[in-house]
Amino acid sequence: MGIMWVAAICFFYLRLFFAKLSTTKAPISHPAAVDSSSLRPACIITGASSGIGKATVEVLANKGYYVILAGRSMTGLDKVVEELELRHKNIMVKALEVDLTSTSSIVNFTKAVQELLDTYHGSMSLQLLVNNAGILATTERVTPEGYESLISTNYLGHYFLTRSLLPLLQRSRVPARIVNVGSFTHLCVQNFDGLFSLLLRREVQKRMHSSKVPVYQIAYIYETSKLFMVMFTYELHRRLSTGTLPMQVTAVVADPGIVQTAIFRELPTWFSTCIFILLRSAFLLQSPTVGCKAVVNAALAPPSVSGEYFFGGEGCRVASSTLSYNTQFAADLWNLSDKLFNDAVCRLRTL
Ligand SMILES: NC(=O)c1ccc[n+]([C@@H]2O[C@H](COP(=O)([O-])OP(=O)(O)OC[C@H]3O[C@@H](n4cnc5c(N)ncnc54)[C@H](OP(=O)(O)O)[C@@H]3O)[C@@H](O)[C@H]2O)c1
Ligand SMILES: *[C@@H]1O[C@H](CO)[C@@H](O)[C@H](O)[C@H]1NC(C)=O
Ligand SMILES: *[C@@H]1O[C@H](CO)[C@@H](O)[C@H](O)[C@H]1NC(C)=O
Repeated sequence: MGIMWVAAICFFYLRLFFAKLSTTKAPISHPAAVDSSSLRPACIITGASSGIGKATVEVLANKGYYVILAGRSMTGLDKVVEELELRHKNIMVKALEVDLTSTSSIVNFTKAVQELLDTYHGSMSLQLLVNNAGILATTERVTPEGYESLISTNYLGHYFLTRSLLPLLQRSRVPARIVNVGSFTHLCVQNFDGLFSLLLRREVQKRMHSSKVPVYQIAYIYETSKLFMVMFTYELHRRLSTGTLPMQVTAVVADPGIVQTAIFRELPTWFSTCIFILLRSAFLLQSPTVGCKAVVNAALAPPSVSGEYFFGGEGCRVASSTLSYNTQFAADLWNLSDKLFNDAVCRLRTL
């Protein structure tokens, strides 16, 4: 896992080097400014209580966004709000609870966002959604709804959230933007064999009941969750740009690189400390303030970059894995996720 991931990031830095040489992928030097025609542009950032999400909140709030911090722990979010309000006088930030592994929580969150926007009587519009939350589990766990928890948090929950928020994003007066946080680790997925079984509740529960779950499987599930995120973004972009989803919304991937955050919290502290020391001495480890640059660039870039993969800051974009551009698999993934979303919403209604 470790060696493959380091190989993957090195490969991406090489790609970045060549992308910087070519003119077609030239960095965007003047990102689009925040829309000033509406009194306040609003944005949502998931996983805002720590790491890359928290750093992104600080930058976007200072750029004039009304930032909705979304996360599963109100205590964690409130602490960040308090800290930021103390440090910056004129920012507007608000914490709202959402657990991405719960459809009910996602539906409630959407309603809360809607109510919040309503209190501003049209003077505030939702222009940006940053799907950032993510976990790196060290064991396989099942969510109350029966999904694998890593896939559910990193991918499926964000698919549900995006579908749920699209009507609100559509109302934005400027083309709204969806930024999905991906990762170079998606390069390690070599083929599509068995990937859909990770999304099926029956298959997940069957696997959990057998004791044969190798540990490397977890790294593979993480890589898959990120590949799903990348392919979801591209499919969303295709649907939006061809009119299948007739909306003025654009979608991009942002890859922060390797960042020192709490994402390794499930690993023993001595182990993650060692990893960080090794990565830092190889100049591969970044702070969240640096790591969030790809996300911020992706959020502020003009609509013409829709469907691209941001990596390396300065508005740079690179190509993702060959597999990730497979349109058939992406369409199938969308269809399956769509079915799971509709089923979950139906189940909620019949409760
Ligand atoms: N760090 C890296 O090197 C790296 C590299 C590439 C990509 N990424 C990606 O960057 C994103 C942010 O990660 P990070 O490194 O900043 O990690 P982090 O510091 O652990 O932050 C993850 C955030 O996600 C939230 N979260 C976890 N499960 C959730 C759930 N079920 N519902 C709602 N929120 C949930 C966490 O909230 P709690 O505080 O409540 O747990 C936390 O705020 C992830 O998608 C990760 O895969 C990270
Ligand atoms: C969502 O709201 C409903 C109705 O207010 C409530 O019964 C339910 O427990 C909420 N779900 C979650 C996950 O908080
Ligand atoms: C996806 O579902 C739609 C409607 O259910 C269907 O028309 C389409 O053929 C499906 N696409 C794929 C790739 O399975």
